[in-house]
Amino acid sequence: MANDPPQGNEKDTVTLTEKALRASELSYRRLFEAAQDGILILDADTGRVNDVNPFLTKLLGFSHAEMVGQTVGELSPFKDLVSNQIMLERLQQNGYIRYEDLPLETRDGRKIAVEFVCNIYQVGDKKVIQCNIRDITARKRAEETQTLLATAIEQAAETIVITDTHGTIQYANPAFERISGYTRDEAIGQNPRVLKSGKHDAAFYRQMWDVLDSGQKWSGHFVNRRKDGTIYEEDATISPVRDKGGRIVNFVAVKRDVTREMKLEAQFHQAQKMESIGQLAGGVAHDFNNILAVIQMQCDSLKIVGHPSAEQLECAEEISAAAQRGAALTRQLLLFSRKQTMQPRDLDLNQSINDVTKMLHRVLGADVQMRFKFAKQPLFIHADAGMMDQVLVNLAVNSRDAMPGGGMLVIETSAVDFDESVRAHSIQASPGAYVCLSVSDTGCGIPSENLPRIFEPFFTTKDASKGTGLGLATVFGIVQQHRGWVNVYSDVGHGTTFRIYLPRLTSVPTQESKQSESPALCGGGETILVVEDDAFLGAAARKTLSQCGYRMLAAMNGVQALEVWQENRDKIDLLLTDLVLPGGMSGMDLSARLLMDNPKLRVIYASGHSAEIAAKGSALNEGVNFLSKPFPAGKLAQTVRRTLDAIR
Ligand SMILES: Nc1ncnc2c1ncn2[C@@H]1O[C@H](COP(=O)(O)OP(=O)(O)OP(=O)(O)O)[C@@H](O)[C@H]1O
Ligand SMILES: [Mg+2]
Repeated sequence: MANDPPQGNEKDTVTLTEKALRASELSYRRLFEAAQDGILILDADTGRVNDVNPFLTKLLGFSHAEMVGQTVGELSPFKDLVSNQIMLERLQQNGYIRYEDLPLETRDGRKIAVEFVCNIYQVGDKKVIQCNIRDITARKRAEETQTLLATAIEQAAETIVITDTHGTIQYANPAFERISGYTRDEAIGQNPRVLKSGKHDAAFYRQMWDVLDSGQKWSGHFVNRRKDGTIYEEDATISPVRDKGGRIVNFVAVKRDVTREMKLEAQFHQAQKMESIGQLAGGVAHDFNNILAVIQMQCDSLKIVGHPSAEQLECAEEISAAAQRGAALTRQLLLFSRKQTMQPRDLDLNQSINDVTKMLHRVLGADVQMRFKFAKQPLFIHADAGMMDQVLVNLAVNSRDAMPGGGMLVIETSAVDFDESVRAHSIQASPGAYVCLSVSDTGCGIPSENLPRIFEPFFTTKDASKGTGLGLATVFGIVQQHRGWVNVYSDVGHGTTFRIYLPRLTSVPTQESKQSESPALCGGGETILVVEDDAFLGAAARKTLSQCGYRMLAAMNGVQALEVWQENRDKIDLLLTDLVLPGGMSGMDLSARLLMDNPKLRVIYASGHSAEIAAKGSALNEGVNFLSKPFPAGKLAQTVRRTLDAIR
């Protein structure tokens, strides 16, 4: 009995196994149905879909019935990707295949990214392929955002520094390296106090930390020190970074280097100050000059008609001499305030320096050596020769005074071309072609606290008997009047360099136009459009020019001029226009419009103002592209010819 098989139990066991199997199948089925990943079961031989779980049908937008029985290649989301034989072959070989990032398109045309893993295995006597498909669109998007953020931070122009709550640097971007001079390796693990310049007191930092520790963001201005010791200025915002629980875990500082802006702002204030001092000085000098003229005249008539005694005559002479000294002083003040009239002409700066070297030698004395380094080519400028001499002499005298024991004075000239970036260096600078006149000495130098003041009238460090403080003020005024600017570099104990930039004439003034006018005046049948609202003046200009052999077209305002242009645009070689025109469109507006249409058009502007006043920042040169009214006929013809002939 004992060996008898337990008949009745056998059936039970089978039933149990079946039950267990069924239970297991059911639980797998549940897993399959409830899975939060897509599952696709394929017949390994035919590649047809045996089964697909609800997650995947929902993800792709197809029903279960639509998918089952199809080959993968027949299903549109897969048709470009895995329908091909290669996948099946690879699967057969390796039993496994995995794509990290496959793009699929859902039924409604949405693009999704999935991770795609296939296994091949045996079920009973059949081989099946199970594909697990995970939607990674959200993860990918998050990764892309991360990459975007990281790239932006890495490439930002602003310094970005992240510290822990103790202030220890954990991250610094490349802008930090560029601006502070410290590499990231040097900075990470350090406290930002390595940047301290000593310009802020302890209370400044305490207030900053109080704000940050209270969980608020702090905004302020730092004066910091680079690794090389130079000072720079930053506008900064420091914000606490919190974790999900709201706890402060980091601080992030975003800082903008404003050193340049601060410098330009200071220059701007200085320029404004000089402007108002100039106005004041000019106003006083003008009235004072008239008073001096009266003193002078009365003194002269006293000498002539008053029959003075010898003693009285001597008094009168002294009054007269004092008045003359006063007049010389006011002339300088007028120069500074740009009220002195200029008599500019085209001149070669090298030549004009050459002409005063003898005088400079006398001024400097035997103890000062002089060196010249001239640009090889002539440097043409449109300038008042007397004023240029005065600039040079004033600078040379200052250098002599700075070298009481002797030394060296170097005068250099060169041609320079500036682009937009020059504006960052000086508030008065603008892009274009310039000559640079530099005067350097090996003298005592200028202490940095004096530098901002040296161009002010009456700023002097010399004895009353030696200096009035008008030398550099005059230089400044002259250079401004010529639409240039001055830079100073000084090293106490080593010397000083003044660099003066003046607009350079790019078309070389021709010898002919200086000598006889007649051959150069003739028109060669070119067509000129004259825009002038004063009918008489317009007619006179047209008469002169047509007598010279030009064809003439006329307009009274900008709108008319545009109409004339429309009909004759291919014929017109030169536009002669008043700067101020009735009807809202200025001469500049008009020329800008026409030049856009024909960049080869030559333009001459006319105005009742002088070129310096009319220009307002644009390059206007008397006799080159500008005529101040009233202009003589000869000058008109000459300027027109020169403008037409200028090489561009
Ligand atoms: N090359 C230089 N080296 C050192 N200091 C200079 C130099 N040029 C100018 N300075 C300083 O700038 C001040 C102002 O110069 P500025 O030429 O305007 O007046 P001044 O020379 O004192 O008097 P003035 O030129 O009217 O005789 C000088 O007093 C001097 O302190
Ligand atoms: Mg001086």
